[in-house]
Amino acid sequence: MAGDRTDAPEGAVSLTVRDGDGETTIDVEPGRNLRAVLLEHGFDVYGRVSRHANCGGRGLCGTCGVRIEDGPEPAHWHDRAAARWGYPRLSCQVTVKWGMTVELVEKVVWGQLRPRP
Ligand code: FES
Repeated sequence: MAGDRTDAPEGAVSLTVRDGDGETTIDVEPGRNLRAVLLEHGFDVYGRVSRHANCGGRGLCGTCGVRIEDGPEPAHWHDRAAARWGYPRLSCQVTVKWGMTVELVEKVVWGQLRPRP
């Protein structure tokens, strides 16, 4: 994790999204909410049930986790705990500030993760 940076670039930054074996790069205006950007571009951050029953990005349900490389320091308590213990971070609590890579994680029903092989 890179920590907070003060030199966030002007204009769009590149957000690389890994989904299984696929990888897509999209341009994002800095300051956008990561969850909102991912959903707008058709990426699913939820499990089968939590896709329909989630907190709407308020940091309460804990089901919108993604793995982030080179992301900003976590600000939300749950996101801090996730980052501290190596769990997926809450995409709804992450602001895109610079180019970074996000990996979607497969979830079972709610927000539980499938065990890694
Ligand atoms: S959408 Fe509920 S914690 Fe992110």
